[in-house]
Amino acid sequence: MRSIFRDFSYDYFDILAHPKEQWYDFWQTYREKHPKVLQEYMLKNNLNESTLKEKLESLERRELDKLSQYWQRVGAAEKAKVLKTLGKRADALHLEREDFVIHILGGLGEREHFIIPTSKGNVVMIDLLGCWLSGKIEDFPSIVFGALDDFIEYSHVHVRHFMSDDERRKRFSLLLHRLPTELRDKTFDEKLATIACFLDKYVEHYNWSGFYLTTNDRLLSLGAFVGEPTEHLEIPFGSGICGQAAETMDVFVVPDVSKEENYLACSLKTKSEIVIPLIKEGQVIGELDIDSHFPNGFGASDREFLEKVCEALIRS
Ligand code: SME
Repeated sequence: MRSIFRDFSYDYFDILAHPKEQWYDFWQTYREKHPKVLQEYMLKNNLNESTLKEKLESLERRELDKLSQYWQRVGAAEKAKVLKTLGKRADALHLEREDFVIHILGGLGEREHFIIPTSKGNVVMIDLLGCWLSGKIEDFPSIVFGALDDFIEYSHVHVRHFMSDDERRKRFSLLLHRLPTELRDKTFDEKLATIACFLDKYVEHYNWSGFYLTTNDRLLSLGAFVGEPTEHLEIPFGSGICGQAAETMDVFVVPDVSKEENYLACSLKTKSEIVIPLIKEGQVIGELDIDSHFPNGFGASDREFLEKVCEALIRS
């Protein structure tokens, strides 16, 4: 079978060869070896350089040592079990389509796996530290097959940036269908966090997805988001794209942010932006803000979809 399943954990465990003060420097080298995956991993975990440093400082060498020893002892056997089952499930997984690879890596331990789209296909990243900290590493094949089930479900609805508006529309409608279930029995804040994760996960060209909420004094205050941390924690009405959308109570689509004068930059990677005000009983109670690393990232289908997402939130 072609190598869709690869263990790169040795690159990660190299961290143990360095004193803790050098872990951040180590991470730069590690990142050069897996640039796309680790860059997306940072965004999915709301990490910038300073929060990355904090996270690395809070990692315990003792835990990493234990994990490394454990993986040296059982890794080969666990991988053999996975390969055997992969072989049996090859047809069901359509492995010949080559649209995904599974990479065993190490991260900062937030979750057991992440799905990371790249220009060469999708990477299902297994974070060994996440598996270790959740206590599930002892059933490693279940983690891998759970991640694959998640990937299969995802591949049916995933919206790629190169899709036409018509193709996007079909997938957006599948996503909208799922949204009420995702929001059920959650508090308002939990709903905001769920939507931010949902949009980030399923739409490739949504690279910062988050909410601002209106405070009494015509100020927008940052709520749940997924993406690079922003310095714009509060934005007055009228200021930036967000403030203008709040003032006009209208959707604001910016195909090229470099052409906007009243624009507050969050990241140099951002090329386009859309802001949808959340309107309840005639008042702007907040807004959904999405940044894209793709120029002209938001077509008519995106606008329709995001307006419906906001309606579903307000109704729920
Ligand atoms: N670009 C926005 C600021 C918010 S960040 O994109 C997260 C604006 O101009 O209002």
